[in-house]
Amino acid sequence: MIIAGLSGGKHLVDSLVTKLRAERVDVISRFFPDGEIYVKFEKEDLKDDLILLQSMYDNPNSKLIEYFLAAKTAKELGAKRIIGVIPYMAYARQDRRFKPGEAISIKIIADLIKKVGTDYIVTIDMHLHRLRGSELHDIFGVPVENLTAMPLLARALGDKIKECIVVGPDDEALEFAKAAASEFNLPYTNLSKKRISDREVEIVLSDKSIDVKDKDVLIVDDIVSTGGTIVKAVEILRSLGVKDIYVGISHALLAPGALDRINRARINDFYATNTVKNPLARVDVSELLYNAIRRLI
Ligand code: R5P
Repeated sequence: MIIAGLSGGKHLVDSLVTKLRAERVDVISRFFPDGEIYVKFEKEDLKDDLILLQSMYDNPNSKLIEYFLAAKTAKELGAKRIIGVIPYMAYARQDRRFKPGEAISIKIIADLIKKVGTDYIVTIDMHLHRLRGSELHDIFGVPVENLTAMPLLARALGDKIKECIVVGPDDEALEFAKAAASEFNLPYTNLSKKRISDREVEIVLSDKSIDVKDKDVLIVDDIVSTGGTIVKAVEILRSLGVKDIYVGISHALLAPGALDRINRARINDFYATNTVKNPLARVDVSELLYNAIRRLI
C-alpha cells in the first residue's frame, strides 16, 4: 500500500505510514503565478492501492483541485484502488437547496471526487446531518466511512469529563453531544431555538429535565469557523449558571477573528482535533483513520 499526502494532509502522513507499514510517496504541489496548481508524484508508477490524504482546508477550492489532479494522475500511473482519506470534507454544509436556485454543493463535489477515480472515502464528522448510511453512498457513488471524533474529544478532557454534562450548541449538534456523552454514560442535551413570537427567538436547553446550574459542561460541535455559535452557546450556558466550560471541536477552521472571539469568551479549555492544522489541535485522529482504513482493505 502507498500513502501520498497532499498539502492538506501532510501533517498526518508520517503516523499513517508507520501504523500501516505503507510506502510513502511524496507529491509536489505548488501554485503557478496565475494561481493554477501544479501536481507531480515523485514516482513514475504507483502499481498498488493508494491512500490519498487530503483535508479540504484551508482554501478548500485549491485543496479540491489539487485532489482532483492527484487522483486522476494516480490512476494514470497505475494505482489500483484509491482510498480518499479526507479528514475534513469541505462543502458538506450545503447538502440541499435551502433557497430556490442554490447549488447543492456537496452532490457536485461528491460526483467529481468519484469521477477522478476515488474508490472509497474515509472522512470524519462530515456535516451531513440530513443524510445517513445508504444516502451517503447514493450521493458519493462509492462507499463512505463517516467516522466521529466525538468519543476522542470526550476522552481528551481526562478525569474532568466525569463531572460534565455534554451540550451541543444547536439542534443539529445533538448527535455529537450524544456520541461524546455515550463514551462515559454522561447526561447530554443541546441548545435549541424556541420561537416566542414572529420577532422573538429564545435559545433554551432542549431537555428541560437537565439542570446545568453549578455543573461543568463540555460543548461539542463538528466545526468552529467564526466562533459565533460557540461564543453564543457559552453566553447562554453562563446565564443558566454553569460552572466550568470546556469546548471540544472536530474541525477548527478558525476564520479570521475567531481566535480573538474565543479568547474573549474565557472558556476554561478549548481544544480540537488535528483533522486540519490549527493552533488548538490536541486530539490526534490518526488511530481513528488507521482503524477505518484497516476495515476497508
Ligand atoms: C453548523 O451547523 C455547524 O455545526 C457549526 O455550528 C457552525 O459551522 C459553526 O460556525 P461558526 O463558528 O461560524 O458559528
